[in-house]
Amino acid sequence: MPDGDTRPYSLIDWDGDADAPAAYHLGVLLEQGSKGGSSHMHALKAGDRISIGAPKNSFALADGDAPALLLAGGIGVTPLISMAAALKARGAPYRFVYAARGAAAMAFRRELEAQHGAALTLHFDDQAGGPPDLATLMRDAAPGTHLYVCGPRPMIDAAREAALEAGFTQARIHFELFEKAAPQAGDHAFEVEVASTGQVFTIPPGKSIIEVLEAEGIDLMYDCQRGDCGICQTEVLEGVPDHRDVVLSQAERDGGKVMQICVSRAKSARLKLDL
Ligand code: FES
Repeated sequence: MPDGDTRPYSLIDWDGDADAPAAYHLGVLLEQGSKGGSSHMHALKAGDRISIGAPKNSFALADGDAPALLLAGGIGVTPLISMAAALKARGAPYRFVYAARGAAAMAFRRELEAQHGAALTLHFDDQAGGPPDLATLMRDAAPGTHLYVCGPRPMIDAAREAALEAGFTQARIHFELFEKAAPQAGDHAFEVEVASTGQVFTIPPGKSIIEVLEAEGIDLMYDCQRGDCGICQTEVLEGVPDHRDVVLSQAERDGGKVMQICVSRAKSARLKLDL
C-alpha cells in the first residue's frame, strides 16, 4: 500500500493443494468511499509491481478428516474457499454455507456452485428476510463437526452462541474476524500505565494500545490485530477495559481481568496493564 502501509488478505487456493498451489487468488471487496486498501487494490493493473510478505496460515483446518461446517458472511468467504477445496480434495465430509445481503454482494458464486454442488448452500438475506437460521444449522450438524466461520463480528458472535447451545465444544469452534474492529462513536483518549516500568502513555481515538506502545519502543506479542487470535491478551491490574474482541467469553469480559490490547479500549480514564 502507499506510504508503507500494509494490508493482509486471505489467499484463495482453488485446488485444495496447500503444499504447492499453482496460483493464489484474492477477493477484495471495493468499499464504498474507500480511500485506503480496497480502492488501491482495485486500481492495480496487470503488470503493476507490488511488495508482499510470505503467506502465513492463522486460520487452518483443525482436523482435516472430521466433518466440517464452513460458514461465510460476505467477502469473509475467501479463507473458507481454500478450506472447502482442501476438504473436498481429501474426501472429508463438509457443508459450506455462504450468506450475503443479496446476490450482488456474493463473490465467486459461479465457481463455488461448480466446485461444491450439493455441499454448498447459498443464503441471500434480502430474499430470506434475514440472516441464516444458525440454531437449525448447528443442530443439524453431524456429531463431532468442527465449525469454521469467517465474516463480520455480529455473525461470528451469533454463530458461536448457536454452536455452544447446540453442544459444540469450544475446541470445535474456529473463527476469523473479517475485519478489524471499527472505531466507535464516542471513543475517547485514555491512559495506559505499563506496570513493570511505571511509564504512562495516552491512547488517542483511532489508535490501538499496541500501535501506541510499539511506537514508544515497547516489545509486544501480537498477531492478527483484529481481536480474534488471542495472542495479545494482557492482564488488567487496574481500570475497566472496553472489550472489542471476539476471543473472550462473556464471563471473561465481565471479569475485566484480561483484555486484547490490539482492539480493546478503556471505559476508565486509565488502565494499568501487566506489561
Ligand atoms: S493480536 Fe490477535 S487478538 Fe490481539
